[in-house]
Amino acid sequence: MTLPSPPSALITDSQLAQAADILKNGGLVAFPTETVYGLGANAEDTEALGKLYTVKGRPGNHPVIVHLASLEQLQDWAVEIPEKAWQLAKTFWPGPLTLILKRSPRVPDAVTGGQDTVGIRIPNHPVALALLNAFQGGIAAPSANRFGRLSPTSAAHVRQDLESDVDLILDGGECQVGVESTIVAFQNGQPVILRPGMITAGQIQAVLRNPDLPQNQANHSSTVSRAPGTLASHYAPRTPLKLLSESEFRQKLSDIQKTSASAKIGALVFSALQGLPHEIVMPKEPTLYAQRLYADLRKLDGLALNEIWVEAVPDTGAWAAVADRLHRAAAQD
Ligand code: TXA
Ligand code: MG
Repeated sequence: MTLPSPPSALITDSQLAQAADILKNGGLVAFPTETVYGLGANAEDTEALGKLYTVKGRPGNHPVIVHLASLEQLQDWAVEIPEKAWQLAKTFWPGPLTLILKRSPRVPDAVTGGQDTVGIRIPNHPVALALLNAFQGGIAAPSANRFGRLSPTSAAHVRQDLESDVDLILDGGECQVGVESTIVAFQNGQPVILRPGMITAGQIQAVLRNPDLPQNQANHSSTVSRAPGTLASHYAPRTPLKLLSESEFRQKLSDIQKTSASAKIGALVFSALQGLPHEIVMPKEPTLYAQRLYADLRKLDGLALNEIWVEAVPDTGAWAAVADRLHRAAAQD
């Protein structure tokens, strides 16, 4: 992917050593990855994992991703790795891809929610990799937000959400990818996308020479129904969000324009409308849009508005991850 390189991290060696010590002693450390900030715990410490689930407010049977520093560690955590998984790992790691693989005996039930698979990824962020190297083990980390809310893409977001419940927050600046990793599982050795991310189906197909790649089989296999990222209303701001086509957008806008109601509407649009006081003009390029999406939604969410209107994004593979998060944010319970 052609993304700007991450900002040089303002993390000292002593902070990294402190973070690794906290993990070794059963504490929680929030850290930056290229996708979103993670809330990390020692993946082999059941008690620390219990704390992690409590702080997240996450049901105990929802699995978390194990983050590793290098490909050499993969076979400590997963067994019977399909050939296609190796190909994807070698191509995209470190990077925004999570592979769901058969777990090794080393992986505690608390990581997998009792399933026989484990989600694994090597993140592409200098601070995450430095922390993993200092810790020298697997770090279990969901996104560092309360269950069901928007993922954090800056240390400030983590502070807002989790402040006193986390032992240390490593500040590595703003996340460059901005939405969570692409999740790929395997059924009989064949890949299935469980959650779209900025590594697209097209990129995966190109590597595997696989013309056929099923996506988001939500509601079907038991694997998928346990993935919180597949719940309809996941990744939601508190303000009701409406996803609108351009014509719906213009219609709604003309309905309320020049009424006082427009003051309580926020919007993400592709071109300035000049009818709404709280509109944010978004990039027309999907990687740049994704990078800002959660931060901009949080900004609007903080304004005590009645609704957030979002102009629908193009229906193409490059936009699949953004479209997926917007649909989930728009879904009402
Ligand atoms: O980009 C990311 O993936 C970020 C950063 C921190 O790495 N992490 C993240 O974690 O988004 P979380 O916990 O918010 O979402 C992980 C997703 C969940 O939908 C979870 O159910 C799914 O991965 N998952 C983890 N292990 C799984 C497994 N064994 N089978 C199916 N889904 C799994
Ligand atoms: Mg999450």
